[in-house]
Amino acid sequence: MAQNIFASVIVLTCISMVLSRKFTVDYENNCFLKDGKPFRYVSGSIHYFRVPPEFWHDRIYKMKMAGLNAIQTYVEWSGHEPEPGTYNFDGYYDLPKFLKTAHDLDMLVILRAGPFIDAERDMGGLPYWLLRIDPNMKFRSYDASYIKYVDNWYSILLQRIEPYLYNNGGPIITVQIENEYGSTGICDAQYKSHLRDFFNVHLKGQVVLFTTDGSSQSALMCGKTDQVLSTVDFGSGANVSEIFNYVRWQQASGPLVNSEFYPGWLDHWGAPHAEVDSKGIVKTLTEILMHNASVNVYMFHGGTSFGFGAGSNLGDTFQACPTSYDYDAPLSEAGDPTPKYFAMREAIGKFLPLPPGPLPEPAPKMSIPPIALKKVASIWDYASVNNNPVVSPFPLSFENLSHPYGFVLYSSTVDFIPSDPAVLTVKGIADRAYVYVKKVLQGILSREHKIETIPIKVLQGETIDILVENEGRVCFGNGINDRKGIFQNVTLGSKNLRKWTMTPIPLDEASLREINSNILLNKKEYSLHAPAFYSGEFVLQNKTSYDTFLHLQGWHKGVAFLNNFNLGRYWPIVGPQVTLYAPSVLFKPPPEKNKIVLLELEHAPCSNQKYCTVEFVQNPTVNGTTPTS
Ligand SMILES: *[C@@H]1O[C@H](CO)[C@@H](O)[C@H](O)[C@H]1NC(C)=O
Ligand SMILES: *[C@@H]1O[C@H](CO)[C@@H](O)[C@H](O)[C@H]1NC(C)=O
Ligand SMILES: *[C@@H]1O[C@H](CO)[C@@H](O)[C@H](O)[C@H]1NC(C)=O
Repeated sequence: MAQNIFASVIVLTCISMVLSRKFTVDYENNCFLKDGKPFRYVSGSIHYFRVPPEFWHDRIYKMKMAGLNAIQTYVEWSGHEPEPGTYNFDGYYDLPKFLKTAHDLDMLVILRAGPFIDAERDMGGLPYWLLRIDPNMKFRSYDASYIKYVDNWYSILLQRIEPYLYNNGGPIITVQIENEYGSTGICDAQYKSHLRDFFNVHLKGQVVLFTTDGSSQSALMCGKTDQVLSTVDFGSGANVSEIFNYVRWQQASGPLVNSEFYPGWLDHWGAPHAEVDSKGIVKTLTEILMHNASVNVYMFHGGTSFGFGAGSNLGDTFQACPTSYDYDAPLSEAGDPTPKYFAMREAIGKFLPLPPGPLPEPAPKMSIPPIALKKVASIWDYASVNNNPVVSPFPLSFENLSHPYGFVLYSSTVDFIPSDPAVLTVKGIADRAYVYVKKVLQGILSREHKIETIPIKVLQGETIDILVENEGRVCFGNGINDRKGIFQNVTLGSKNLRKWTMTPIPLDEASLREINSNILLNKKEYSLHAPAFYSGEFVLQNKTSYDTFLHLQGWHKGVAFLNNFNLGRYWPIVGPQVTLYAPSVLFKPPPEKNKIVLLELEHAPCSNQKYCTVEFVQNPTVNGTTPTS
């Protein structure tokens, strides 16, 4: 008998050990419970898709050393499902590896699963192909056509993340549904409860769900979802107790959480770099922690919107976000601790134990002397060998062409006698268009500057080329059904231009490899100047490569590629970003050659010489002078 009792005690102990790994909300005592004990988190945002995977460990480790006990990331649907039913969990999108990295470092994870994320990403993380299926699809609502694709995606995603839930032995303590949904004004209760139920069923009720909304009473009310923890966003200088009171009106008890405490802010091309003072941040952060609240610092490490990842906003006008997502965050774009890092660490240390060990230091950087770049192909040369032109009586959008990002060359030959001059009108241009007659630049149309017409001189039988740039789909608010290119009739004088040839410009790795090939060099040069590709090679001096920054002084606007990796858009003439972050992992050691390619749209700083140059420098410039400075 005694033996039996002993045996059952052992069994019970084992069960309680298994049960003890549990993360829940204690609504009565206004806190989280981790393994049955009161818990609050101090977390920081880092987006795996904005940081080279080789650096995930380094960045999360540095966040831990700042005193954080959790990290927060969005999940970017568009990157994981680039075409319907095609899934990507590799490289920058290896979410399981990212979660495992956090777990190995003993950091908890707050997962913001979308479907919409904003995050200053193209279309707020929604896949572009939704617009191909239906340009007017009712995103972020319980609309059958939209929900079908959301459910498909989540049936893939949720099964991938389930093993990483805290209750299942992993790092994920909470999962956010939607994102600042209260700011939409849509307030579709069926949509909100559908997402909640879908997550609960697929994750078997094993994780705490939450919503995040802006710090107004109306946003919190619209975003609030039954049986889901309500949290709020606000930055430095906010009236903390007043805002937490707004939350209390929606949710009488439960842990208070600021899911986005802003230590900096986002940038737009042509507007001064956002900077937020550490003193105010420390003051507000301290107030939040004195409320016994949990908090997430957005961004703790912003990273980079490599490639065409950056989105745009619709303020008074269309405003595209730059490549750098430095955010004036505690860890810089290159992952270096800033004075803000140490100020925030000290503030956090008054509430949570700081881990022992040496504090992170800035990583060494390298510079590379000027590299000669030679023009290797005009945009027309490149288009003629690298594409599948589509002919149609009217212009087609990027989405209809299944060409999500970058550039499309629209061409039409005038088949009537136009007036002299004639006004070319491209209504709804998205987003920026270079207009050429016989391959000579006539001017630039711009959504940002609301320029949709241009007088041109053109004769019957001559060709008008319009090179259209997608500057990033709108990522916030009611403008997210943001198709790109030209999708309305284009008029010359009072007549429509009919018969269009659309040539998507592919800028993927495989297409770029051909840039230096003889096919292009043997092509007849149509134009001496931009838009064109400029290419150069160089060998590093040392075996070890370090992070560096591509300095684009003298160049105007375009896209840069290092060893066929798209470093992102550059536009130093309007700033504030002047340099592009080039992480060490992209470089090849000597004696191998490295290749740099620029697609320059407007002006290369070498009109009268054979070669242009570009160089890599040790210090970034993301706060350059802008037209509105
Ligand atoms: C563009 O795509 C949409 C959705 O597939 C389709 O309805 C429309 O007809 C397409 N337009 C053209 C001109 O092909
Ligand atoms: C914060 O808001 C409350 C009202 O909710 C007000 O009483 C208090 O004075 C405000 N504090 C500051 C510093 O403005
Ligand atoms: C924070 O928690 C402590 C300890 O439980 C409690 O004494 C204090 O009143 C709480 N403060 C607030 C603002 O809730």
